[in-house]
Amino acid sequence: MIMTFLSALWLTAAAGTPAGDAALGSRSYDDYEKPAVCASCHDDIFQQWTQSMMSQAYTHHWDEIEYFELAVAHAEREEFVAGVKAGCNGCHAPLAFLAGDVPPPRPEENSRANESVSCDLCHTITGFAGDTPYNFNWISEPGRLKQGPKPGVVSPHHDTVENDFLKTGDFCGTCHNEMSGYGVWVKSTHLEWKEGPYYAQGVHCQDCHMPKAMARSAKMTAPAMVAQHLFHGAHDPGKLNGSIEVRMNPLEREIPWDGTAVVNVQLFNGKCGHKVPSGSVEDRIMWLHVTATDSEGKVWHLPVDAKGFAGEEYTIAADVLAYQDMGIALDRPDFPGVQRDGVALDAMDVGDRIFRMAYFDPQGRMTIQQWNTKSLGADYRIGPRETKVETFTWTLPEDIAFGRVEVRAQLNYQRLVQPVADFLKVPADETVIEVINTASTWFEVYE
Ligand code: HEC
Ligand code: HEC
Ligand code: HEC
Ligand code: HEC
Ligand code: HEC
Repeated sequence: MIMTFLSALWLTAAAGTPAGDAALGSRSYDDYEKPAVCASCHDDIFQQWTQSMMSQAYTHHWDEIEYFELAVAHAEREEFVAGVKAGCNGCHAPLAFLAGDVPPPRPEENSRANESVSCDLCHTITGFAGDTPYNFNWISEPGRLKQGPKPGVVSPHHDTVENDFLKTGDFCGTCHNEMSGYGVWVKSTHLEWKEGPYYAQGVHCQDCHMPKAMARSAKMTAPAMVAQHLFHGAHDPGKLNGSIEVRMNPLEREIPWDGTAVVNVQLFNGKCGHKVPSGSVEDRIMWLHVTATDSEGKVWHLPVDAKGFAGEEYTIAADVLAYQDMGIALDRPDFPGVQRDGVALDAMDVGDRIFRMAYFDPQGRMTIQQWNTKSLGADYRIGPRETKVETFTWTLPEDIAFGRVEVRAQLNYQRLVQPVADFLKVPADETVIEVINTASTWFEVYE
């Protein structure tokens, strides 16, 4: 996001080399080598990077839709957010940002903006400006010298230098923390990690997202332990699977037919170094769906017990509209919005617990436009190594059959709320429902 009042600060901190907003237009595309050049020797690393989201940060369909249909259109209508036209690309198409190519050509025109977060951008980052990494405040010094993790490495094509900064979470934080023009942290993966247990124990982003494997760093080098460039995240089911463990138990195993069942569900984040969901929190939802099936096969949906904290209504699936501010860019001032959750379209799902943090626009309406975010709602996500407990108190229905009742919990994750995707015609792969985990338990109903 463009924050002109901070640029001056970064300029001085960077001792000459501009960073963040101040770097806009400070370079040309020709200062950077193309990934295809690196691929001629680093073929394996190149293949991995092409599979990652970072090689698609500018070209991926949902990014293209949000940037061109919402952000650029909004920037052209409202002075306060005018900076996002350039600013989005500080992280999504850094070479275009540095070259002052604003807005860059559409992805189908195949310009160098399509290189997205490229090899030469990351491997010319020497450090960052200021105290906190955020809003693309990395410092890039392009040229023959490449920054790498290992000492004494020799290449026929370039010089190399060992730079410990590349091995730290702060390096990633320069793009994985974002503050809106209203001064709100709208992306804080690095900050969440930094205040959690993993940072304290010296576990960095690279340990989980760039694990080392026996491989050739370049074609001509012997196999060694090499950092993988897959950057698996929310677009990889293998990364998402089991990131939250789900366990459940009934308070009583035997319940009279006119009694009340109480079932507790525990959700433990044992795999993720930051909160879940993280990153594009404005888009993402994770929700817990619990059902009970009696001995005759009748199925009931169990709504979660409210805990009573401020802002909780945004964390329980409901039949309400939101995201009215999409109307600004689309020039539809009376736009009524679309369904807020999309999991509640079936009456069966109203009452599911949603793990999320709501973003609000300057008018207090819920938004998926992080650049238009002036405040945040209750943060009801699951922190690293945190366990959240949800309770389901269920007065048994009159028509329940005697005998065993199976209770099943399913924790779902979706990258973009379905009604927004439908409205903006975002391809279906962005709204696949990923099952993070399931659990089940039972109790007996007696006469
Ligand atoms: C002509 C072949 C060749 C080309 C082209 C090439 N490299 Fe290299 N590069 C090497 C070799 C060989 C090494 C040494 C690898 C080793 O010994 O582990 C190396 C090492 C590196 C390292 C240091 C890794 C470390 O272990 O610290 C980085 C970073 C790097 N290259 C980045 C790049 C980037 C970015 C590009 C494209 C702009 C590129 N290279 C293009 C051959 C090449
Ligand atoms: C120059 C900016 C930049 C830097 C530096 C950077 N990233 Fe990213 N990263 C991005 C952008 C932009 C995306 C989003 C891609 C997209 O549009 O889906 C992304 C996506 C990802 C994803 C995929 C998330 C998903 O939803 O699937 C992971 C994982 C990730 N980055 C990890 C890292 C790690 C680990 C580091 C540090 C070693 C790092 N990134 C450094 C900009 C950056
Ligand atoms: C998002 C930033 C980012 C991008 C994009 C990126 N790298 Fe890296 N690369 C890193 C980081 C960080 C490390 C060090 C990881 C570690 O050791 O913890 C690294 C390590 C390396 C190494 C040394 C591997 C080893 O362990 O010996 C080479 C070589 C390399 N990268 C080349 C490339 C090439 C070629 C590309 C493009 C195809 C590329 N990188 C894209 C961040 C990036
Ligand atoms: C202990 C391992 C671990 C560490 C450390 C870690 N991550 Fe992750 N990360 C995960 C797992 C597991 C997921 C998949 C669950 C999810 O998407 O929330 C994930 C997901 C992500 C995502 C996608 C989030 C979403 O919901 O869209 C991004 C982006 C990301 N990580 C970046 C980072 C960055 C940047 C750091 C360091 C500041 C980091 N991670 C540190 C394990 C880790
Ligand atoms: C400070 C860096 C930064 C800035 C500025 C930034 N983004 Fe991102 N963006 C990211 C990162 C990192 C991710 C990946 C987070 C994750 O996967 O959870 C991301 C994810 C996204 C996604 C979701 C991609 C997906 O596949 O799920 C969209 C869409 C997006 N950004 C659009 C934009 C737009 C439009 C702007 C400008 C208004 C913008 N971004 C500004 C860093 C940035």
